[in-house]
Amino acid sequence: MNAAAGSVVAIDGPGGVGKTTVSRGVARALGYQSLDTGAFYRAAALLVKFHRTDPEDEAAVAAVLSGADLDYRDGTMLVEGVDVSAAIRKETITAASSRLARLPGLRLVLVERQRAWVAARGGRAVVEGRDIGTVVFPGAGVKIYLDATPDVRARRRAGQTSTALGEVATQLGRRDRLDSTRAASPLAPAHDAVSIDTGALTAAEVIAQVLELCRDRGVEPAAGPARR
Ligand code: DC
Repeated sequence: MNAAAGSVVAIDGPGGVGKTTVSRGVARALGYQSLDTGAFYRAAALLVKFHRTDPEDEAAVAAVLSGADLDYRDGTMLVEGVDVSAAIRKETITAASSRLARLPGLRLVLVERQRAWVAARGGRAVVEGRDIGTVVFPGAGVKIYLDATPDVRARRRAGQTSTALGEVATQLGRRDRLDSTRAASPLAPAHDAVSIDTGALTAAEVIAQVLELCRDRGVEPAAGPARR
């Protein structure tokens, strides 16, 4: 299933660092589709809440997810064919997704879904997350680790929501801790990832750097009309 991973562009990094903007920009330029894997963890949190599953019961959580119809199309997360893109951005779901992401049993199910999603697109995709270069696609043709100081990331996030800066910073700090200290696939740069500090760069500048790396590594644009 991983055979064509050489055409995957993996974009990892903590929250608020600009992964989605950069992934979409790179995907548009290459004519690839982009996958936000965080949306899968958020959808898992929504489903667990909907089914009133005990979030600490790993087997029950994995069972709920194994039977679920999850899809991601043009930036939209679909659960059983229903667009849940707005619902998964609520603060309670955000916090619940970070806690659920600790469970190895859940991660196994979601990683397989993510690999299948990319395989269905001929192995060409820009994939963003926390463990893409380390676990999901260790053979990715380009691996990027985006980073920025907690202060820069909190300011960016606060600019996208109506929540006060202090509260956003506290929430981000909590998620950073959960994401980077969990035993299963913790957030960390792959040993062969190129790190980019996005703090002093515009999104366009980061996208240009990633595209230059794609050219250097032979990750070619798709033939035909560009798709998102
Ligand atoms: O990127 P995001 O904020 O939408 O991700 C939501 C949560 O999912 C985040 O706390 C970490 C987790 N996650 C993960 O563990 N692995 C991924 N590949 C993507 C997200």
